[in-house]
Amino acid sequence: MAEYDTETVVHEEMTLRNDAKMTARDVSVFYGQKQAVRSVSIDVDSHYVTAFIGPSGCGKSTFLRCFNRMNDTIDIARVEGDIDLDGRDIYDPKMDVVQLRARVGMVFQKPNPFPKSIYENIAYGPRIHGLAESKTDMDRIVETSLQRAGLWNEVKDRLDESGTALSGGQQQRLCIARAIAVDPEVILMDEPCSALDPIATAKVEELIDELQGRYAIVIVTHNMQQAARVSQRTAFFHLGHLVEYGPTDEIFTNPKADRTRDYITGRFG
Ligand SMILES: Nc1ncnc2c1ncn2[C@@H]1O[C@H](COP(=O)(O)OP(=O)(O)OP(=O)(O)O)[C@@H](O)[C@H]1O
Ligand SMILES: [Mg+2]
Repeated sequence: MAEYDTETVVHEEMTLRNDAKMTARDVSVFYGQKQAVRSVSIDVDSHYVTAFIGPSGCGKSTFLRCFNRMNDTIDIARVEGDIDLDGRDIYDPKMDVVQLRARVGMVFQKPNPFPKSIYENIAYGPRIHGLAESKTDMDRIVETSLQRAGLWNEVKDRLDESGTALSGGQQQRLCIARAIAVDPEVILMDEPCSALDPIATAKVEELIDELQGRYAIVIVTHNMQQAARVSQRTAFFHLGHLVEYGPTDEIFTNPKADRTRDYITGRFG
């Protein structure tokens, strides 16, 4: 492969600021001796969907997990650098990680509903966070979350059935509803459609469109068409580096870095 510059190309519109919803500055992640993320700085804006793209193993999931400290759950992982949420360092030892993960929710590649009823899948989070004062309150949270996730009409008559009895696409929307139920500010999604068929994928993409603006959304995807469809901001990663960060249409039609162009045009990956 050709020699590439390791300097990040940041498009003018994306110039790093300190008032973004979440900011990452010089973030590096190590698994033991091995470095998976190399000094990445990026802003995540409230009003946009940000896509992380790049070939397998380039560090997308590892970097995504930094935003709600999910790497804390991996023994050998070590995170360096700064990540702020509304200007507050999320790696501050005083930060309540349970609270953080309610504010910065996560949806995984494989839908992972709890082996409980559809209702309980949604009610669990609001209950432990004390968000509902009465049964009526809780019913309302469950209904609103399922409605926002575009699932209400399909499940309203079977809320007592197990979440695991739903189809894969419905389970993924249930997981999104569960993330929404605790009123998050940011939603991280790691390849949320990779286990879904095209119809279920289209539904989740529609849902992401509807959620845009209400939550800051970061989505990892291998599917460049998907990134082009659902995001307004795209970050391209390669070998642990953030290569280029800019408006999605520009990244796809007029990339500035050679490495981005080579990836977009299918020369590697
Ligand atoms: N738990 C772990 N322990 C050790 N190394 C890990 C762990 N998770 C990831 N890695 C390594 O870190 C690097 C980045 O992996 P990561 O999963 O973040 O990549 P990715 O871009 O999400 O890839 P993919 O597109 O295949 O999901 C890889 O070299 C991987 O082997
Ligand atoms: Mg991954």
